[in-house]
Amino acid sequence: MAKPGKQATWGGRFSSGPAELMQRFSESVSFDARLAPFDVQGSKAHAAMLAHVGILTAKECSAIQKGLDTVLKDIQAGNFTWDITCEDVHMNIEQELTRRVPAAAKLHTARSRNDQVATDMRLFFKHACAEIDTALGMALSALLTLAEASQEIYLPGYTHLQRAQPVSAAHHLLAYIEMFVRDRERFAQIADRANWCPLGSGAIAGTTLPIDREFTALQLGFVDKKGKPRVTRNSMDAVADRDLFIEFASACALCGVHWSRVAEDVILWNSAEFGFIKLPDSFTTGSSLMPQKKNPDSFELLRGKAARLQGHVTALMAMTKGLPLTYNRDLQEDKPPVFDAFDQTMICLAVLAGSFDGAAFNEEKCAAAVSDPALLATDLVDYLVVRGVAFRDAHHIIGALVGLSEKKKLPLNELSLADVQGVSDKFAADWVDVFNVPAALKKREKTGMPGPRQVKKQLAKWKASLRLDR
Ligand code: ARG
Repeated sequence: MAKPGKQATWGGRFSSGPAELMQRFSESVSFDARLAPFDVQGSKAHAAMLAHVGILTAKECSAIQKGLDTVLKDIQAGNFTWDITCEDVHMNIEQELTRRVPAAAKLHTARSRNDQVATDMRLFFKHACAEIDTALGMALSALLTLAEASQEIYLPGYTHLQRAQPVSAAHHLLAYIEMFVRDRERFAQIADRANWCPLGSGAIAGTTLPIDREFTALQLGFVDKKGKPRVTRNSMDAVADRDLFIEFASACALCGVHWSRVAEDVILWNSAEFGFIKLPDSFTTGSSLMPQKKNPDSFELLRGKAARLQGHVTALMAMTKGLPLTYNRDLQEDKPPVFDAFDQTMICLAVLAGSFDGAAFNEEKCAAAVSDPALLATDLVDYLVVRGVAFRDAHHIIGALVGLSEKKKLPLNELSLADVQGVSDKFAADWVDVFNVPAALKKREKTGMPGPRQVKKQLAKWKASLRLDR
């Protein structure tokens, strides 16, 4: 048993301290210590506000702020001993500060750990969204570089994993660029919603003391585009809601869905059966038994980690949905999934960028696959439509030709003119000109299509508009 009073922050009403098992069970410092920089930032701003309204003297405030700087310096240098009897990052810092600066006994005036933790996490989310934005920029840049180099590489596009229609590799990669750009927008929106200051909400119902919430918000950069302070509007919501946690984890999970789909395409393309892409040695691994193997482990792990991120969203939603307002200790469990979502998203995006950096399409294999004339059966339908055949009839006619080619064991484009004219008199000798992949793509130049000029335009647009910070 810890001695009564060891718990200096709330020990007053207790005659004995928590059991050692309870201390180990309830501590969060093992995972929330990483909030230290945000906690110190929040405390410095809170102290400044307390001085501004006359609760602290200027001298006390300056001593507290300097003390906080030294504590953070020690933490960052690895010279700080975290103590689980102080539960969490907030109390560890406050107690150490109080040992160094007696005035720190006043720091927690008009504040609760509930609004403190909400503030720390909002600062964390703003930081995390900015970091992910940079990481996404790097992944986008790697995709864009490969796409630029792959404008004249054509490969089959698939639906139902059946060969559907030809596209350029660049167009395929541009599809992923669209998805990751939307992810970027999502993180920017989350950062904006994080940008409200909860300090002053207290434990649940604010404070009777004459604090200045706008002052604190300004100090911490919780401001709108015009620089006006943004403070949360409801003290109960501010300490109880975990929307941001769920949104952030969801945005990570959705981004994971995107990189997992890229990964799945690459894993297929990298197989001997497809052989469309060559991956760099630096992001592949060998087999301990089979010497010939070069496995796409980076992409497989990207796919696997996406599942883990989905688990974090489920954990956060399940944890929150049945909680009565306002704070309940369950909410301490909100941090591990969020931190892991952030850490995994950062490393996954870096690995995605690295894996694409050295990747290259295998032109020959792609060309062989895309030479399957069946990929242009739909273009042949269009050929007849242009010659006045109704689409449904044209579809039927080409279907019959495909059947005929299967019966004759001939590729579609090797049927004779007599064969095709036997099915429809609309066919002329130029019908075989349809089986030209670059020409087929050149006919697809409306916005969003895989025509080479369209693709070039999209590439140029992304190159100019993405803030690619590499
Ligand atoms: N470590 C706690 C958490 O992360 C801090 C809040 C504690 N508040 C309380 N009322 N016990 O949730």
